[in-house]
Amino acid sequence: MSDRHEPLLQLRDVGYHYPNSKRPVFDELTFSIGAGEFVALVGGSGVGKSTVLRCVAGLIEPSMGHIDKPVHTAKGTRPSAVVFQDTRLLPWRRIRANVGYGLSGLGLSRAERDARIDEVLELIGMAELGDRWPHEISGGQAQRVGLARALAVRPHILLMDEPFSAVDALTRTRLQDELLGIWQRLNMAVLFVTHDIAEAAYLAERVCVMRGTPAQVVFDETVPASYPRQRDDRDLNAFAQRVADAL
Ligand SMILES: Nc1ncnc2c1ncn2[C@@H]1O[C@H](COP(=O)(O)OP(=O)(O)O)[C@@H](O)[C@H]1O
Ligand SMILES: [Mg+2]
Repeated sequence: MSDRHEPLLQLRDVGYHYPNSKRPVFDELTFSIGAGEFVALVGGSGVGKSTVLRCVAGLIEPSMGHIDKPVHTAKGTRPSAVVFQDTRLLPWRRIRANVGYGLSGLGLSRAERDARIDEVLELIGMAELGDRWPHEISGGQAQRVGLARALAVRPHILLMDEPFSAVDALTRTRLQDELLGIWQRLNMAVLFVTHDIAEAAYLAERVCVMRGTPAQVVFDETVPASYPRQRDDRDLNAFAQRVADAL
Protein backbone atom coordinates (compact mmCIF):
# COMPACT_ATOMS: atom_id res chain seq x y z
CA MET A 1 0.00 0.00 0.00
CA SER A 2 1.16 3.54 0.72
CA ASP A 3 4.68 4.51 1.72
CA ARG A 4 4.81 4.65 5.49
CA HIS A 5 6.89 7.81 5.63
CA GLU A 6 5.10 10.06 3.18
CA PRO A 7 2.95 12.63 5.00
CA LEU A 8 -0.68 11.68 4.72
CA LEU A 9 -2.27 14.51 6.62
CA GLN A 10 -0.79 17.92 7.19
CA LEU A 11 -2.24 20.85 9.12
CA ARG A 12 -0.56 24.18 8.45
CA ASP A 13 -1.39 27.17 10.63
CA VAL A 14 -4.93 25.95 11.03
CA GLY A 15 -7.33 28.06 13.01
CA TYR A 16 -10.89 27.60 14.13
CA HIS A 17 -13.14 30.23 15.61
CA TYR A 18 -16.65 29.36 16.74
CA PRO A 19 -18.86 32.22 15.57
CA ASN A 20 -20.41 32.71 19.00
CA SER A 21 -17.17 32.80 20.99
CA LYS A 22 -14.71 35.60 21.73
CA ARG A 23 -11.46 33.85 20.88
CA PRO A 24 -10.42 31.18 18.39
CA VAL A 25 -9.98 27.69 19.88
CA PHE A 26 -6.64 27.61 18.04
CA ASP A 27 -5.20 29.92 15.44
CA GLU A 28 -1.98 28.44 14.12
CA LEU A 29 -2.02 24.74 14.67
CA THR A 30 0.61 22.83 12.71
CA PHE A 31 1.27 19.11 12.69
CA SER A 32 1.32 16.15 10.34
CA ILE A 33 0.66 12.43 10.29
CA GLY A 34 2.43 9.91 8.07
CA ALA A 35 0.69 7.14 6.15
CA GLY A 36 -0.01 4.25 8.52
CA GLU A 37 1.12 6.21 11.56
CA PHE A 38 -0.71 6.04 14.91
CA VAL A 39 -0.77 9.46 16.56
CA ALA A 40 -2.45 10.34 19.84
CA LEU A 41 -3.61 13.89 20.44
CA VAL A 42 -3.79 14.63 24.15
CA GLY A 43 -5.06 17.68 25.96
CA GLY A 44 -7.28 18.84 28.78
CA SER A 45 -11.02 19.15 28.51
CA GLY A 46 -12.08 22.06 26.30
CA VAL A 47 -8.65 22.63 24.75
CA GLY A 48 -9.97 21.92 21.24
CA LYS A 49 -9.21 18.26 20.49
CA SER A 50 -12.65 17.48 19.10
CA THR A 51 -12.59 20.66 17.07
CA VAL A 52 -9.30 19.58 15.44
CA LEU A 53 -10.77 16.19 14.70
CA ARG A 54 -13.92 17.68 13.20
CA CYS A 55 -11.79 19.93 10.97
CA VAL A 56 -9.72 16.97 9.80
CA ALA A 57 -12.87 14.93 9.18
CA GLY A 58 -14.28 17.74 7.06
CA LEU A 59 -17.31 18.11 9.34
CA ILE A 60 -16.40 21.76 9.88
CA GLU A 61 -14.32 24.11 7.77
CA PRO A 62 -11.23 25.73 9.39
CA SER A 63 -11.45 29.51 9.67
CA MET A 64 -7.76 29.86 8.74
CA GLY A 65 -4.88 27.83 7.35
CA HIS A 66 -4.70 24.65 5.31
CA ILE A 67 -5.34 20.98 5.79
CA ASP A 68 -3.76 18.70 3.20
CA LYS A 69 -5.33 15.28 3.34
CA PRO A 70 -5.73 12.26 1.10
CA VAL A 71 -8.19 12.90 -1.69
CA HIS A 72 -7.74 10.12 -4.19
CA THR A 73 -9.33 6.95 -2.90
CA ALA A 74 -10.27 3.69 -4.56
CA LYS A 75 -13.88 2.78 -5.30
CA GLY A 76 -15.90 2.02 -2.22
CA THR A 77 -13.59 3.88 0.16
CA ARG A 78 -13.45 7.22 1.93
CA PRO A 79 -10.35 9.25 2.87
CA SER A 80 -11.28 9.27 6.54
CA ALA A 81 -13.84 7.94 8.97
CA VAL A 82 -14.70 8.91 12.54
CA VAL A 83 -15.38 6.91 15.70
CA PHE A 84 -17.09 8.95 18.42
CA GLN A 85 -17.30 8.37 22.15
CA ASP A 86 -21.07 8.12 22.00
CA THR A 87 -21.30 5.52 19.29
CA ARG A 88 -24.22 7.23 17.51
CA LEU A 89 -25.72 3.96 16.38
CA LEU A 90 -29.16 4.26 14.85
CA PRO A 91 -31.48 2.47 17.31
CA TRP A 92 -33.99 1.54 14.61
CA ARG A 93 -31.44 -0.30 12.50
CA ARG A 94 -29.90 -3.70 13.11
CA ILE A 95 -26.15 -3.95 13.69
CA ARG A 96 -25.48 -4.93 10.07
CA ALA A 97 -27.32 -1.89 8.76
CA ASN A 98 -25.49 0.35 11.22
CA VAL A 99 -22.14 -1.03 10.09
CA GLY A 100 -23.09 -0.49 6.45
CA TYR A 101 -24.31 3.04 7.07
CA GLY A 102 -21.30 4.79 5.55
CA LEU A 103 -21.26 2.56 2.48
CA SER A 104 -24.22 4.04 0.68
CA GLY A 105 -23.34 6.40 -2.12
CA LEU A 106 -19.98 4.74 -2.69
CA GLY A 107 -20.98 2.85 -5.82
CA LEU A 108 -20.88 -0.62 -4.28
CA SER A 109 -23.33 -3.30 -5.31
CA ARG A 110 -25.54 -4.89 -2.68
CA ALA A 111 -23.33 -7.99 -2.70
CA GLU A 112 -20.18 -5.91 -2.32
CA ARG A 113 -21.76 -4.01 0.57
CA ASP A 114 -22.75 -7.25 2.27
CA ALA A 115 -19.26 -8.67 1.81
CA ARG A 116 -17.75 -5.52 3.29
CA ILE A 117 -20.07 -5.71 6.31
CA ASP A 118 -19.21 -9.38 6.88
CA GLU A 119 -15.53 -8.60 6.66
CA VAL A 120 -15.54 -5.88 9.32
CA LEU A 121 -17.95 -7.72 11.64
CA GLU A 122 -15.49 -10.61 11.52
CA LEU A 123 -12.63 -8.21 12.22
CA ILE A 124 -14.26 -6.93 15.42
CA GLY A 125 -15.31 -10.41 16.51
CA MET A 126 -19.05 -9.84 16.08
CA ALA A 127 -19.80 -11.97 13.04
CA GLU A 128 -22.65 -13.69 14.91
CA LEU A 129 -24.32 -10.53 16.16
CA GLY A 130 -25.12 -8.68 12.94
CA ASP A 131 -28.86 -9.30 13.23
CA ARG A 132 -29.15 -7.83 16.71
CA TRP A 133 -30.53 -4.39 17.51
CA PRO A 134 -28.32 -1.76 19.18
CA HIS A 135 -30.21 -2.16 22.48
CA GLU A 136 -29.33 -5.86 22.50
CA ILE A 137 -25.55 -5.34 22.75
CA SER A 138 -23.20 -4.13 25.52
CA GLY A 139 -21.42 -0.77 25.63
CA GLY A 140 -18.14 -2.40 24.62
CA GLN A 141 -19.83 -4.15 21.71
CA ALA A 142 -21.44 -0.88 20.64
CA GLN A 143 -17.97 0.68 20.51
CA ARG A 144 -16.79 -2.22 18.35
CA VAL A 145 -19.73 -1.59 16.02
CA GLY A 146 -18.80 2.08 15.81
CA LEU A 147 -15.28 1.02 14.88
CA ALA A 148 -16.58 -1.48 12.31
CA ARG A 149 -18.77 1.19 10.71
CA ALA A 150 -15.69 3.39 10.29
CA LEU A 151 -13.49 0.55 9.02
CA ALA A 152 -16.11 -0.51 6.48
CA VAL A 153 -15.17 2.43 4.24
CA ARG A 154 -11.48 1.45 4.38
CA PRO A 155 -10.28 4.91 5.44
CA HIS A 156 -6.71 6.08 4.89
CA ILE A 157 -7.02 7.71 8.26
CA LEU A 158 -9.16 6.60 11.15
CA LEU A 159 -10.22 9.48 13.40
CA MET A 160 -11.14 8.51 16.94
CA ASP A 161 -12.55 10.94 19.50
CA GLU A 162 -12.19 9.52 23.03
CA PRO A 163 -13.72 6.29 21.77
CA PHE A 164 -13.17 4.26 24.93
CA SER A 165 -13.92 6.87 27.59
CA ALA A 166 -17.39 5.60 28.39
CA VAL A 167 -16.66 1.89 28.85
CA ASP A 168 -15.49 0.10 32.00
CA ALA A 169 -11.76 -0.31 32.66
CA LEU A 170 -11.51 -3.97 31.73
CA THR A 171 -13.41 -3.54 28.46
CA ARG A 172 -11.33 -0.52 27.75
CA THR A 173 -7.98 -2.34 27.92
CA ARG A 174 -9.45 -5.10 25.77
CA LEU A 175 -10.66 -2.61 23.16
CA GLN A 176 -7.26 -0.90 23.15
CA ASP A 177 -5.52 -4.18 22.36
CA GLU A 178 -8.09 -5.03 19.69
CA LEU A 179 -7.58 -1.64 18.10
CA LEU A 180 -3.81 -2.16 17.98
CA GLY A 181 -4.29 -5.56 16.35
CA ILE A 182 -6.63 -4.10 13.73
CA TRP A 183 -4.34 -1.15 13.05
CA GLN A 184 -1.40 -3.49 12.52
CA ARG A 185 -3.44 -5.61 10.11
CA LEU A 186 -5.02 -2.82 8.09
CA ASN A 187 -2.13 -0.41 7.77
CA MET A 188 -4.17 2.80 8.06
CA ALA A 189 -3.17 5.97 9.90
CA VAL A 190 -4.93 6.68 13.19
CA LEU A 191 -5.52 10.02 14.88
CA PHE A 192 -6.62 9.12 18.39
CA VAL A 193 -7.93 11.89 20.62
CA THR A 194 -7.87 11.24 24.33
CA HIS A 195 -7.38 13.01 27.65
CA ASP A 196 -5.94 9.80 29.11
CA ILE A 197 -2.14 9.95 29.08
CA ALA A 198 -1.58 6.27 29.84
CA GLU A 199 -3.90 5.34 26.99
CA ALA A 200 -2.08 7.64 24.58
CA ALA A 201 1.35 6.31 25.56
CA TYR A 202 0.25 2.68 25.38
CA LEU A 203 -1.39 2.97 21.96
CA ALA A 204 0.39 5.54 19.86
CA GLU A 205 3.68 5.70 17.99
CA ARG A 206 3.70 9.45 18.57
CA VAL A 207 2.01 11.65 21.13
CA CYS A 208 1.11 15.29 20.58
CA VAL A 209 -0.09 17.51 23.40
CA MET A 210 -2.37 20.51 22.87
CA ARG A 211 -2.41 23.27 25.44
CA GLY A 212 -3.35 26.92 25.86
CA THR A 213 -5.86 29.43 24.55
CA PRO A 214 -5.62 29.62 21.64
CA ALA A 215 -4.23 26.08 21.77
CA GLN A 216 -0.88 25.05 20.34
CA VAL A 217 0.89 21.73 19.94
CA VAL A 218 3.36 22.09 22.82
CA PHE A 219 4.77 18.54 22.74
CA ASP A 220 5.26 16.17 19.81
CA GLU A 221 7.39 13.08 20.42
CA THR A 222 7.81 9.48 19.37
CA VAL A 223 6.92 6.94 22.04
CA PRO A 224 10.11 5.07 23.01
CA ALA A 225 8.66 1.54 22.96
CA SER A 226 8.00 -1.08 20.29
CA TYR A 227 4.94 -3.31 19.93
CA PRO A 228 3.66 -5.39 21.58
CA ARG A 229 3.95 -3.17 24.62
CA GLN A 230 3.76 -3.92 28.30
CA ARG A 231 1.50 -1.60 30.26
CA ASP A 232 4.00 -1.49 33.14
CA ASP A 233 7.02 -0.82 30.89
CA ARG A 234 9.40 1.60 32.62
CA ASP A 235 10.27 3.60 29.50
CA LEU A 236 6.59 3.91 28.68
CA ASN A 237 5.79 5.18 32.17
CA ALA A 238 8.68 7.65 32.12
CA PHE A 239 7.39 8.89 28.76
CA ALA A 240 3.84 9.21 30.14
CA GLN A 241 5.23 11.30 32.99
CA ARG A 242 6.83 13.67 30.48
CA VAL A 243 3.52 13.97 28.63
CA ALA A 244 1.84 14.78 31.95
CA ASP A 245 4.43 17.49 32.59
CA ALA A 246 3.66 19.04 29.20
CA LEU A 247 -0.09 19.13 29.83
N1 LIG B 1 -20.45 24.47 18.88
C1 LIG B 1 -19.66 25.25 19.66
N2 LIG B 1 -19.89 26.59 19.78
C2 LIG B 1 -19.10 27.36 20.55
N3 LIG B 1 -18.05 26.90 21.24
C3 LIG B 1 -17.78 25.59 21.16
C4 LIG B 1 -18.56 24.70 20.37
N4 LIG B 1 -18.04 23.45 20.48
C5 LIG B 1 -16.98 23.58 21.32
N5 LIG B 1 -16.83 24.85 21.71
C6 LIG B 1 -15.77 25.38 22.59
O1 LIG B 1 -14.53 25.21 21.93
C7 LIG B 1 -13.54 24.79 22.86
C8 LIG B 1 -12.94 23.48 22.40
O2 LIG B 1 -13.93 22.46 22.44
P1 LIG B 1 -13.61 20.97 22.05
O3 LIG B 1 -12.94 20.93 20.74
O4 LIG B 1 -14.86 20.19 22.19
O5 LIG B 1 -12.56 20.56 23.20
P2 LIG B 1 -12.06 19.11 23.68
O6 LIG B 1 -12.52 18.11 22.69
O7 LIG B 1 -10.56 19.25 23.77
O8 LIG B 1 -12.65 18.91 25.04
C9 LIG B 1 -14.22 24.72 24.22
O9 LIG B 1 -13.94 25.89 24.90
C10 LIG B 1 -15.68 24.61 23.88
O10 LIG B 1 -16.46 25.16 24.89
MG1 LIG C 1 -13.77 16.47 22.91
